[in-house]
Amino acid sequence: MILVSSLMFIQCTSEPIAGPQGQAGIDGTDGIDGVDGVDGVDGTASCIACHSESHRTPIINSFAKSSHSDQTIMYTGQDLANYTNGVSASCTKCHTSEGYINYIEGKPAVKSEMPSGVSCTTCHSKHSTFDFENDGHDYALRTMEAVTLDTDDSYTIDYGNASNSCLVCHQPRSKAPVDDGTGMYLQANSRFYPHYGGQSTVLEGIQGSYIEVDGAVELPAIGTSAHRTGASCTSCHMGTSTDAEKGLHTFKVSLDSCTDCHGATPPTEVAGLADDMAVLKAKLIALGLLDEAGNTPKQTEKVPFKQVQALWNYVTVYKDGSHGVHNPTYTKALITNALKALEDN
Ligand code: HEC
Ligand code: HEC
Ligand code: HEC
Ligand code: HEC
Ligand code: HEC
Ligand code: HEC
Repeated sequence: MILVSSLMFIQCTSEPIAGPQGQAGIDGTDGIDGVDGVDGVDGTASCIACHSESHRTPIINSFAKSSHSDQTIMYTGQDLANYTNGVSASCTKCHTSEGYINYIEGKPAVKSEMPSGVSCTTCHSKHSTFDFENDGHDYALRTMEAVTLDTDDSYTIDYGNASNSCLVCHQPRSKAPVDDGTGMYLQANSRFYPHYGGQSTVLEGIQGSYIEVDGAVELPAIGTSAHRTGASCTSCHMGTSTDAEKGLHTFKVSLDSCTDCHGATPPTEVAGLADDMAVLKAKLIALGLLDEAGNTPKQTEKVPFKQVQALWNYVTVYKDGSHGVHNPTYTKALITNALKALEDN
């Protein structure tokens, strides 16, 4: 009862009090039309620049020409027939897609039984930002972080751009020899070289061996090469090119990316280096420090340390694969000093 009567009370008091209504006023005059706004940018225009079919087709076609995409080479490091037991854990980071992704995600390296080679999704995943204008392009890369070297945890390389993504794999696996104080040295390891991926350290101008012999040429200061400061892995290896066999995702150097600095006809060789390398190679073979083919180090007894340094510099420049172009001045100095060290041999 109390509930019902209280509801009735509320209803009565909240009823509006209706009085007599007046006439509606006359309509006002129309206002002046506003000025048209500026057209907005199409919401997906910045995406289409990279995500259109016409933009992606040349990239996909060019990647097919890179040895990165050759599965049998990538995941074995050589020939699949030699690696029927899968790829050992220490190689997967750089030679398999799952190993690389594991590494980036901070997971431990594991042996790969069914390895796959490098594909688009090895290097790319998703964007970390869509505000490209303010945050810069991330190219949806899995990493653009600076890399601390496997061979030297006190040294970090930072290109400040997408070239950092190359560093994880294109770095050495072993370091220059260190004198034990006796001046004599034995390295009984046929893998006495910085692996095949020392391009980043050569570009940086580190991890060659400075040989203290009479008349030795000073090594240039670290990180000063014009190819390090004014160019980058991606600018030389992934630029646009008029030649479909080069540039983009072929990763093959196009001379089109050299013209800004070198003009219409860039040099393709480091002056005198090929000749010096040939002389050095012959000497190292004669000393029994290299096999006859000049590819593989070999050594059975202790030799003067400077000879081993000369060998190290030779294999560093040889395995870098750029014939000195990555760092002309540094490379020349390493080989000149190596030849000086072997003057009496
Ligand atoms: C500078 C070039 C570039 C621009 C601009 C760009 N992207 Fe991407 N995006 C990439 C690359 C490279 C990948 C990874 C490889 C691939 O699939 O092409 C990718 C991947 C993606 C993926 C993941 C694809 C998948 O299959 O999982 C999405 C989603 C995406 N982008 C959305 C966008 C959107 C939305 C925009 C615009 C706001 C945009 N992207 C602009 C280069 C770009
Ligand atoms: C830090 C990364 C890294 C690791 C770890 C690594 N490699 Fe490599 N490896 C490379 C790179 C980069 C190249 C290619 C460089 C080039 O083409 O100039 C290469 C090249 C090779 C080649 C030469 C291939 C050819 O076509 O000439 C062989 C063989 C090889 N690796 C074997 C191995 C084996 C076996 C392991 C494990 C014991 C291993 N690699 C671990 C980065 C690595
Ligand atoms: C070995 C690593 C790697 C692989 C594999 C790779 N990319 Fe890329 N991609 C890069 C890097 C690094 C850049 C940034 C290049 C730059 O800074 O100019 C890039 C840039 C791009 C861009 C934007 C740049 C542009 O020119 O528009 C697209 C799109 C792209 N990649 C698509 C692909 C596709 C599709 C595949 C597979 C067919 C692929 N990528 C495989 C490393 C890779
Ligand atoms: C996942 C590890 C990995 C990454 C990331 C990577 N590479 Fe490689 N790269 C390799 C290996 C391994 C080979 C050797 C394949 C072979 O010939 O045996 C190679 C080969 C090459 C070659 C030889 C020529 C060719 O045919 O492709 C070039 C040049 C090269 N890489 C440049 C780059 C650049 C530039 C980047 C960064 C944009 C990059 N790589 C990123 C592992 C990698
Ligand atoms: C100034 C331009 C330039 C820069 C910067 C540069 N490269 Fe190169 N690179 C070259 C040239 C030129 C060659 C020799 C190519 C040839 O002989 O076909 C080469 C060769 C190579 C090779 C051997 C290719 C093969 O077929 O064996 C690899 C691998 C490579 N570069 C990777 C890299 C990586 C990784 C970086 C960054 C750390 C880098 N390069 C920076 C110009 C450059
Ligand atoms: C940022 C400017 C710049 C770019 C880009 C550049 N170079 Fe260079 N290059 C130089 C400079 C400066 C030197 C002189 C040596 C030094 O300072 O390292 C040089 C030296 C050289 C040398 C040694 C010449 C000799 O006679 O010893 C060669 C070979 C070379 N560059 C080739 C190339 C190639 C090939 C490319 C493109 C793939 C290229 N450079 C891109 C600036 C550049």
